[in-house]
Amino acid sequence: MKLLVINGPNLNMLGIREPTVYGKQDFAALQDYIRTSAAELGHDVTLFQSNHEGEIVDIIQAAYGVYDGIIINPAAYTHTSVAILDALKAVGLPTVEVHLSDIHSREEFRHHSYVSMAAVKTICGLGFEGYRKALEYFE
Ligand code: DQA
Repeated sequence: MKLLVINGPNLNMLGIREPTVYGKQDFAALQDYIRTSAAELGHDVTLFQSNHEGEIVDIIQAAYGVYDGIIINPAAYTHTSVAILDALKAVGLPTVEVHLSDIHSREEFRHHSYVSMAAVKTICGLGFEGYRKALEYFE
């Protein structure tokens, strides 16, 4: 399947950013992991990362008619962005939401996800492996 993988703000800082929460591996390692997993599962993936909400909205809109599904870690926008939720609803593509950490066992403000309302599945707390599980959903 042709899949778009979107990573939101600060995920490009993996490895430096709060390693006790997000691990010591950097963003390049995450991208390699996703590419390798996708190849093993026979998916064609495009990887996109942005720190900007509007750019994430734009890439979701542009996915319409091009991709079979979306995998998204909206990062902090998970908890704030009605715009990303609306974009996902607008294109109607099957979407799997991923979080490296277990958002439900962290601060209360992380417990609510707008994006979950448009997602067919949410995977959290599995680190990098969560992205592989999301890719497996589309098999
Ligand atoms: C995150 C969890 C979010 O609460 C946080 O803002 C992130 C990363 C995760 O992958 O665990 O930036 O989405």
